Amino acid sequence: MALKMFDALLPYFGGKRKLCPVIFGLISKHIPRENWQSSVFVDAFLGSAAVSLYAKVQGFRVIANDIAERSVIAGKALLENSDTRLTDEDVYKLFLANQENKHLIEKAFCPDVFTRRHAIFLDNAFANAKRPLDQYLLLKFSFRLRPFSKYSSPNAFNRPFEEGRFDEIKPTYTKHIQDNLASILDILKIEKARVNAGVFSNGFRNEVHKRDVFDFLREVNGNVLYLDPPYAGTLAYENEYRVLDVILGDDKAKSRFSSEGGMKFLEEVLSEADKFPLWVISFGNAGGKNDLNKLVEMVSRFRKCATREFMYRHCEAMATEKHKEQCREWLVIGWK
Ligand SMILES: C[S@@+](CC[C@H](N)C(=O)[O-])C[C@H]1O[C@@H](n2cnc3c(N)ncnc32)[C@H](O)[C@@H]1O
Repeated sequence: MALKMFDALLPYFGGKRKLCPVIFGLISKHIPRENWQSSVFVDAFLGSAAVSLYAKVQGFRVIANDIAERSVIAGKALLENSDTRLTDEDVYKLFLANQENKHLIEKAFCPDVFTRRHAIFLDNAFANAKRPLDQYLLLKFSFRLRPFSKYSSPNAFNRPFEEGRFDEIKPTYTKHIQDNLASILDILKIEKARVNAGVFSNGFRNEVHKRDVFDFLREVNGNVLYLDPPYAGTLAYENEYRVLDVILGDDKAKSRFSSEGGMKFLEEVLSEADKFPLWVISFGNAGGKNDLNKLVEMVSRFRKCATREFMYRHCEAMATEKHKEQCREWLVIGWK
């Protein structure tokens, strides 16, 4: 079932919106649903905020964290925020000329990532966007322009598009040609309605932190700990979304969790997480590089656990058929 609130999310790679019913079905076997409103859901790697938003609507108080500003903005707009919705006036204000405009996108990412028209708008609009909710609308806008949510494809799309060589762009990009030709205001209004669909109250003050996972876990407590780290040996968020991170003044080195041996950092996280009664861990096989048995062995060193394995299609539009066939997604639930 497609939930309207999920329209509010960024199409972030590794997002778990489709797995939410399974994740919370597993949780219900350990914490009865009638107790969810008195329980705290801790999401240590927030990403798009899909799982935390689902937890919020299910009645958990949510405490979430991510090291990246792009995710923290999502969390502040959708988790901490319970009642402020974007208005048409908020959208119009983004167009007011701003003296603090540094023209960064125009200088650094035009035309390879954004067309000149969009770069000029975004540079000025980001200077105007002071609240996370406004910044989030601009992130939603920019994802809408980017083919397959990928922040680079200069030869396949951007350069031919900017130079009007439309017949050289593959038909798979037709939607993106339409979006890139549409009026900026029309797209903002569509995305405004989608963001607003994710703003609601669950009666709690939900929190979003911006810390390295180890510092975060030391500071917070909760009933369920959800861990969805970058999968060892796969694409790094800091590379894929570097353009966004630079725009947000948050450029950083590749996360250690994305490195080939990144699974050992997950083990370190688990060793710091004994205080959380229930663990739910998402992990993937990275097209065959990671081994479910090793993950189970690792979790079993700390507590009892059960697993579920799924075929899960990441990066649908970009991965090869062979890669898609090999991709497995795992859920491990650990209890004392
Ligand atoms: C697989 S994604 C989470 C996806 C999320 N569950 C969803 O449904 O969208 C992993 C996230 O971990 C974050 N991250 C990477 N290294 C981190 C660290 N050391 N501490 C906290 N967050 C980190 C990344 O920025 C990324 O957003």
